[in-house]
Amino acid sequence: MSLREKLGLKLLHQLDPERAHGLSIQALKLGLAPLHGGPVQRARLETSMGGIALHNPVGLAAGYDKNAEALAPMAKAGFGFLEVGAATPRPQPGNPKPRLFRLTKDQAVINRFGFNNQGIAEIAARLAQNPTAIPRGLNLGANKDSADRADDFGQVLTQAAAHIDFATVNISSPNTEKLRDLQGKAALEDLLGRVNAANANLTNPLPIFLKIAPDLTDAEIQDIADLARAAGLAAIICTNTTLDRDGLASAQRQETGGLSGRPLFEKSTHSGQNAPGHTGRDRSGGRGWYWIGTGRLCENHGRGLRRANLFGHGLPGSILGAAHCKWPGSAFGPGWP
Ligand SMILES: Cc1cc2nc3c(=O)[nH]c(=O)nc-3n(C[C@H](O)[C@H](O)[C@H](O)COP(=O)(O)O)c2cc1C
Repeated sequence: MSLREKLGLKLLHQLDPERAHGLSIQALKLGLAPLHGGPVQRARLETSMGGIALHNPVGLAAGYDKNAEALAPMAKAGFGFLEVGAATPRPQPGNPKPRLFRLTKDQAVINRFGFNNQGIAEIAARLAQNPTAIPRGLNLGANKDSADRADDFGQVLTQAAAHIDFATVNISSPNTEKLRDLQGKAALEDLLGRVNAANANLTNPLPIFLKIAPDLTDAEIQDIADLARAAGLAAIICTNTTLDRDGLASAQRQETGGLSGRPLFEKSTHSGQNAPGHTGRDRSGGRGWYWIGTGRLCENHGRGLRRANLFGHGLPGSILGAAHCKWPGSAFGPGWP
């Protein structure tokens, strides 16, 4: 991390976490954050994900740029792809503040945002107005008070589809009551069938990913993987944040919400590694079957997950900083980039 990035991060850590998050987006929009200029490009980093060609396999995970406000700068931060959202059909404020907590001793955060976003009309308009040189996807969410959550996913997909390259069905956020119930077998089968129907109605159907929770048993992951594969999904993203609080030292560990960062690493890696059908490779050479890892990029990638999609808690510079780590035997190799 450069001195400027270190100072920027230190400054942000003096502020309330959600305010720091918002300010980092403003800084990006104003051109104040140090950026790489475009996706990191090296022949050995080129890959594909669900049939989408990528300059490199490191992407920005959902939740940082919920409203697609910083598309242009994020596309210059070095990433191979971006995921914005979660977006819901109607705008919603999310949970009352404070709802984001730093667990500094544990290198973690807890958030209970609850799908705060400006709604799909606004977000789709922004996506349409801001084409990017790298692929971008949308994290699909459902309104808290929706009478038919499964229908919400299809609606959001339909409205944004012309302006994105992939979409993620997010049923793993712990901050919308009963959302994770959609991971149950019958509910998931119905949900994926309906998302597929909406996708099939598009002029150009998109690769659909499914993002799962880390708090599932291996048997549950097996069921989900079987269903997702049978439904023709392109990938599973593992994982969203966890409800687990084991081994934490920070006082804020009692806060309700999803925990991410260092303590999530073992669980999310386990979800990807032990899951059946984990190939670590694109066997099909096209619209293949993937596991996409989130978080703790250096460690995850070293353990064989093929795509890393991360949520950064600092400036884009610090996200790229993670990408500068060396993975012996990985696609990145020593010295990358
Ligand atoms: C503040 C915050 C908001 C998030 N919002 C979303 C979201 O809207 N949709 C989603 O699928 N994941 C969301 N996530 C989860 C991240 O995309 C990622 O899966 C998770 O944080 C694990 O990666 P990490 O340990 O590197 O943070 C959010 C995470 C954080 C910290």
